[in-house]
Amino acid sequence: MRELIDRLEREKILAPAEFETLLDCDDDILRQRAQAVREQIFGNRIYLRGLIECTNHCKNNCYYCGLRRGNPGTQRYRMTKEQILACCANGYTQGLRTFVLQGGEDPYYTDDMLAGIVLAIKEEYADCAVTLSLGERSQESLKLLREAGADRYLLRQETSNAAHYAMLHPPEMSLSARQKCLWDLKAFGYQVGCGFMVGSPGQTLGHIVEDLLFIKRFDPEMVGVGPFIPHASTPFAGERPGELRLVLNTIAVLRLMKPNLLLPATTALGTIEGTGREMGIRAGANVVMPNLTPANVRGDYSLYDNKNSMEAENIKRRLRAIGCEAVISKGDYFDV
Ligand code: 5AD
Ligand code: SF4
Repeated sequence: MRELIDRLEREKILAPAEFETLLDCDDDILRQRAQAVREQIFGNRIYLRGLIECTNHCKNNCYYCGLRRGNPGTQRYRMTKEQILACCANGYTQGLRTFVLQGGEDPYYTDDMLAGIVLAIKEEYADCAVTLSLGERSQESLKLLREAGADRYLLRQETSNAAHYAMLHPPEMSLSARQKCLWDLKAFGYQVGCGFMVGSPGQTLGHIVEDLLFIKRFDPEMVGVGPFIPHASTPFAGERPGELRLVLNTIAVLRLMKPNLLLPATTALGTIEGTGREMGIRAGANVVMPNLTPANVRGDYSLYDNKNSMEAENIKRRLRAIGCEAVISKGDYFDV
């Protein structure tokens, strides 16, 4: 095991079967080494991104997600530009310098509306980054939003295996369309985050290795990894959630493979385990995303059951308790 970890740290790549051995291991040293690499590069500094869940309308029907259009049980909402700006104001006073506008694929938000929102945020908060996480959009749309000032975009590939992608999504969605969108984002100069769920139905260790190899090739700035968690009103209601150990090992392998990567300790990780975020940080994660969504609609942004969102103050307190410090800056990706 130690030889594999040494070699991954040195060469940043392993053979597929070797990756599987590491992902599957029970050894604490994998995570300890990932934590040490994080500390070498970032010290005890953890980046915060303020999450604004601006719409829970979605035209897609992903089998795993509570916001799917086929779930009639979700009380739908959309935030206005003014409501979004109010979330930013609140986040700014709490020291947040990145605002992530996240939502389902909601055609209600036209390019012009979104461009207006991005422009307004950038005008009022010149020292802040704007991240969009609004699903697949056309080339024209992505280009326009970049020109309006959007700095970053999060779009998980969800899986890098086409057959597995088809098990998680209805036929009108495809891995090739998802990957094309990711490459477009890169071409337009966004800092890009991709990612995937660990333990989604039908996923094998081999699929996770395919994700690692895609990430190696795509070379994103951020990778979001969290456990799959079933939602009671989806076709996957009866499936098992992703395993804590496998999520942590995946984070650790990513840290060793790409040492300067932005790696969030996700809300989903904090949901399957009360101290999951802290465990993620101790396995190499260096980003946490406090929730800025107003309390009256937060419960309606239900991707999965029992979602454990957390306020910035609570997150900062928890970071201090494990000897980490929340960074008050945009926290751009940097090459090492
Ligand atoms: N469990 C865990 N993560 C989920 N997501 C959607 N549904 C679930 C679920 N049931 C994740 C997807 C998506 C992101 C916004 O949330 O990976 O990209
Ligand atoms: Fe919509 Fe995203 Fe949920 Fe799929 S995962 S149903 S695209 S919000």
